[in-house]
Amino acid sequence: MEPTDSNSKEQSLIRMIQRMLNLIIVLVVFIILLPLVMYNADSIVAWFKPANKIAITPPLPESVLVKEKTNDATISYWQPTPLDAVTDPTLREQVNYGKELIAHTAKYLGPNGSVLQITNGQNCQNCHLQAGTMAFGNNYGSVASTYPKFRARSGSSENIYKRVNDCFERSLNGKALDATSKEMQAILAYINHIGSNVTKGERALGSGLKDMAFLDRAADPTKGKAVYITKCQSCHQSNGEGVLQADNIEYSFPPLWGKHSFNDGAGLYRISNFAKYIKYNMPLGITHENPQLTDEEAWDVSAYVLAQSRPHMNVPNDWPDISKKPIDHPFGPYADTFPEKQHKYGPFKPIASNAKK
Ligand code: HEC
Ligand code: HEC
Repeated sequence: MEPTDSNSKEQSLIRMIQRMLNLIIVLVVFIILLPLVMYNADSIVAWFKPANKIAITPPLPESVLVKEKTNDATISYWQPTPLDAVTDPTLREQVNYGKELIAHTAKYLGPNGSVLQITNGQNCQNCHLQAGTMAFGNNYGSVASTYPKFRARSGSSENIYKRVNDCFERSLNGKALDATSKEMQAILAYINHIGSNVTKGERALGSGLKDMAFLDRAADPTKGKAVYITKCQSCHQSNGEGVLQADNIEYSFPPLWGKHSFNDGAGLYRISNFAKYIKYNMPLGITHENPQLTDEEAWDVSAYVLAQSRPHMNVPNDWPDISKKPIDHPFGPYADTFPEKQHKYGPFKPIASNAKK
């Protein structure tokens, strides 16, 4: 049957609509592809994550925050004795100098230090936040109250001089300070003063580092690298060497590995210390009440950082009683049969339960 006039008109109308639809589809696809054509893949990623901006994890759900807050309202963590509580002017000057040395160690004792050149350029404060006063920021709250004390690492009783010099030699990969020096005396006066509000023999609440559970698996440096890139690299840099301030004296962002970082005899070279420190303090600006890293991220990124190269320190006299070695001490010999690699990265649960026996 021949198509009627109206029928063919209808068909040409449908064809026109189809052509217009096709045109619209082509246009839409073109608009979507336009940025891909104009920018390379990197800059598209950069659109969503602007350079120089630190990726901040979305805020915690309200319910979690409220719970954390009410928890905290009932707990009062250690606060340092205020510095202006010191009335004697000579002592006050000494305590203030001690604080200054903790906060700006490099200025006085770094490679370009004005007093001595005995450290790698880091500040004590890099690892003892807010001059060693921040809750779970590896603070000095329990130092005055618990030293001198026996430490299994040296197998001897240690006073505060010895403990401070441990950090000079290991954490700052440097040389020990003479106990009688003005600088050591000032550091001692400061640590004793801020911790003078803690009863002798007791530990202050929130001092040192906050505890953290072991994973069921080994910490994974490969997964950790991805965490490092998204959550740490913007400050600590892709080579892990940090950023010096313009004066070349102090770091804006301290190195995490490489020749200017802490050595392998340092406390932070033990993965549990590293993971606890960063879980509750990094990225800088968080507090232990609002951590950003999951436990897995914290363990994995610790494994990644501790797998990189750093200065070596010979410590043949450490852990004279090997049965007292912490389970994550990364160097043998051990009292158990677990391999060195497992002592460095885990899994730690089997080692821990074996040690209990
Ligand atoms: C690279 C990080 C780092 C730096 C830098 C550092 N420390 Fe430490 N420090 C630690 C860690 C981690 C511990 C805990 C180690 C452990 O328990 O094995 C510690 C422990 C201490 C303690 C004992 C705390 C306690 O409660 O028993 C004192 C005191 C101390 N450091 C003083 C200093 C001083 C003073 C400086 C600067 C001269 C310094 N530290 C620099 C990481 C560091
Ligand atoms: C916003 C910048 C920033 C980000 C992001 C950041 N940090 Fe830090 N980090 C700092 C600064 C600054 C310090 C020193 C703090 C001070 O001196 O008060 C520091 C200190 C440290 C320290 C102790 C010092 C040392 O030299 O060993 C470690 C370890 C560390 N950061 C690890 C990390 C890890 C791991 C991440 C990622 C999960 C991270 N940081 C993310 C700024 C940052």
